[in-house]
Amino acid sequence: MPIYHKLGNFPQKRHTQFEKPNGGLYYEQLFGTEGFHGHASLLYHVHRPTQVKEITKSYSVEPKIAIGKNIKSLLLKGFELKPQADFLDSRKPMLVNKDCIIGLAAPQQSLTSYFYKNADADELIFVHRGSGVLYTMFGELKFKYGDYINIPRGTVYKIHFDTEDNRLLYVESFDPIFTPKRYRNEFGQMLEHSPFCERDIKRPENLKTYDEQGEFDIFIKKRGVMFPYVYANHPFDVAVWYGYHYPYIFSIFNFEPITGRIHMPPPIHQTFESKNFVICSFVPRLYDYHPQAIPAPYHHSNIDSDELLYYVDGDFMSRNNIQKGQITLHPGGIPHGPHPGAIERSIGKRETEELAVMIDPFNPVMITEEALKIDVKDYYKSWLEELETTKN
Ligand SMILES: [Fe+2]
Repeated sequence: MPIYHKLGNFPQKRHTQFEKPNGGLYYEQLFGTEGFHGHASLLYHVHRPTQVKEITKSYSVEPKIAIGKNIKSLLLKGFELKPQADFLDSRKPMLVNKDCIIGLAAPQQSLTSYFYKNADADELIFVHRGSGVLYTMFGELKFKYGDYINIPRGTVYKIHFDTEDNRLLYVESFDPIFTPKRYRNEFGQMLEHSPFCERDIKRPENLKTYDEQGEFDIFIKKRGVMFPYVYANHPFDVAVWYGYHYPYIFSIFNFEPITGRIHMPPPIHQTFESKNFVICSFVPRLYDYHPQAIPAPYHHSNIDSDELLYYVDGDFMSRNNIQKGQITLHPGGIPHGPHPGAIERSIGKRETEELAVMIDPFNPVMITEEALKIDVKDYYKSWLEELETTKN
């Protein structure tokens, strides 16, 4: 995130001696995800961050692919995913390609007995239900309904939930996730026409330094395998850090919609981008105001991209019978558009309360076994008039 942030007091000159209050030196760690040229932060640890005691038996968490080559529109009933106690167990990959894993989770319990680190994917967690605190080596982030939690790969974290009723949509991205480049100037500052700005970015706070030694379990995910590591010191032993690279939160409710006289295309909803996908936020907004405007979207052929839409709240105007927590997949190569009656229904409407997250992977996604467990049969036929069950 290109906003400089710091917690704690550090020495005037980097890479020089920085003494702990009780003697000895702090240990520097440069933390970035793109060599020495990308965003980075400099962390000062109480203990060396390299003290591995043990690596116990690893196990596969590779998504199980049911359909490798798909060209069928799908509808997944996300809220039918069964809640599970453990945070990592609860995470179920649904749609996957070489760039990202898109999944759902309904964790009931906070992460208490171990820490977690995704070693090769940035994680973007959208909080549909629930609230709590993300504890990281950078400090704490309080989260709630509507938050996108952006966690750069390599961040060690624990997650605390206030209740057992939690619903998460998550994306694991093998490339960094940024805010859209076109909304930033050459120095990284967000431009005046951007739908959000730096003020809307919630950064870590309340840095606590744990000077503890013993046995600390960190489950490290890499290349589809979970490696249980045992470290000799508490991973949250950072006393001071500064830089441009850290976990942060952006609330979907801080996304200011861009509207127009005639229908505006999906890029106006863009919130994040990675190398091979974009993420968009559909938020409550006024509809198009040309006297003959059609607020429903026109049919389009997304030849070079699959399109996923995750329905959060409100009445989604272009779809019939859509419920909260559902995911639609409209694969590249198949034109898609509003359901029967939706175009006519939208005419004359002034505003929408719809809330949804769209993910457009540029490479086709594969369908997992978990996804097929909550798949609505024959969704791909739902544009046929005679199959419509409800029309307003
Ligand atoms: Fe679309």
